[in-house]
Amino acid sequence: MSDLEYLRSLIKAVPDFPQEGIMFRDIFPIFQDPRAIEMLVSHIVNHINETIKEKIDVIVGLDARGFLFGPMVALRLNAAFVPSRKKGKLPGETLSADFKKEYGVDTFEMQVGAIKPGQNVIIMDDLIATGGTAAAAGRLVEKSGGKLLEYIFLIELADLNGRKNLTAPIYSMITF
Ligand code: PRP
Ligand code: ADE
Repeated sequence: MSDLEYLRSLIKAVPDFPQEGIMFRDIFPIFQDPRAIEMLVSHIVNHINETIKEKIDVIVGLDARGFLFGPMVALRLNAAFVPSRKKGKLPGETLSADFKKEYGVDTFEMQVGAIKPGQNVIIMDDLIATGGTAAAAGRLVEKSGGKLLEYIFLIELADLNGRKNLTAPIYSMITF
């Protein structure tokens, strides 16, 4: 079994969570298995090293599941980690972007100055559904003056075609 097949086998499908009609993809079994965590992080780091020539300055992780492995990837790349957080959690001056996602509406914030103009940025999250969440994070990177090189997702829900809402290249590891 390949690493991606193994990771896929750990993701649990939970019907009607958090709302009726949603097939929730639960990634937490991966984090109960240190071998799987290592596979996940190494796969992403290898992908970046093999396909992106530029030095990555910043990994942006999306609240909350993008915080689980974004910092691990940032550490291996000797890059900074910057969170895009749900509204009202970050102190100091912030930039903000509203969005609609598969099951609700929300607002993301990012600290002013966390990304410096011209820095090379990758946005990382566990999953893309409608793409609303990732698109809002992309707007925050743009407002900060960062150069968004790629979006990386562990899971892409292909039926929802969230890709159409994103303007930077997309790499997704597992498609459902
Ligand atoms: C989930 C997931 C993505 C987003 C994708 O996060 O982790 O961030 O939804 O949906 P979209 O592509 O339709 O925008 P959620 O808002 O449930 O928050 P959590 O990570 O805090 O659980
Ligand atoms: N975020 C948005 N849609 C989701 C889904 N179906 N499973 C897990 N996280 C999600």
